[in-house]
Amino acid sequence: MIIAVDGPTASGKGTIAKALAAHFGLAYLDTGLLYRAVGRQVQLSGGDPDNPVHALAACDFPDELLEDEALRSEEVGGLASRVSIHPDVRAALFERQRAFAQQPGGALLDGRDIGTIIAPDADVKLFITASVQARAQRRWMEMQGREIDIPLTEIEQDVVARDDRDINRKDAPLRAAADALVIDTTSLGKEQAIQAAIDAVKSALS
Ligand code: DC
Repeated sequence: MIIAVDGPTASGKGTIAKALAAHFGLAYLDTGLLYRAVGRQVQLSGGDPDNPVHALAACDFPDELLEDEALRSEEVGGLASRVSIHPDVRAALFERQRAFAQQPGGALLDGRDIGTIIAPDADVKLFITASVQARAQRRWMEMQGREIDIPLTEIEQDVVARDDRDINRKDAPLRAAADALVIDTTSLGKEQAIQAAIDAVKSALS
C-alpha cells in the first residue's frame, strides 16, 4: 500500500504523516528533507541556490547530511524551496522517491508532489492544509519552544513567500491531486488532526 500526503509548509502534514505511517505500519519518507539536503549542500559549497547547475551538483549530497540538525531551520527550508524550482533537481531526486514508494512492505511519503508526480498510483492521497495565520502561528510556537525569537509577522511573510514559490513553480507545483482527500487542520488540535487523517485513510480503503 502507498499513502501520499501533500500540503503546504507548516500545515501539520509531517506530524500527520509520521503518525499515519506508525498506525498503518508503513515505511516513512519525508521528501522535504531531500530538498533541504540539496539546499544545505549548495550553502555548504558556497553555491547559488537559484543557479540550476549549482543546485543539480548539490543533489550528490552525502547521506550523512540527512542527519544534519541545520536541515530543520527556516533558512534551509527557504533554500530547499528555491532549489526545488529547478526541473533537473526534481528529476535527480525522482528515482530515490519512486523506489521508496514501491518497496514491498508499502510506504508513506509526504511532500508537495507525491500524489501528483511521485506516486500518482497511491492507494490513498491526502492533502493537508490550514490557513496562513494558523500555519504561521504554529511555526511561531514551535520556534518559541526552541527559544528562537522571530516576530510572528516575519514568519507569516515567510509562509506566504514559500507558498507562492511552491504553488507557482512550473515543474510539479504544489496542488492537491484530483483524487486527494483534503483535510483542513486550521481549527484542529494535533490529536484531532491525526484522528481525522486515520479516519480518512480508513474510509478511502473501505
Ligand atoms: O516540507 P518541507 O518544508 O521540508 O519542504 C521544503 C521545501 O522543499 C518546500 O518548500 C518545497 C520543496 N519540496 C518539494 O518541492 N517537493 C517535495 N516533494 C517536498 C519538498
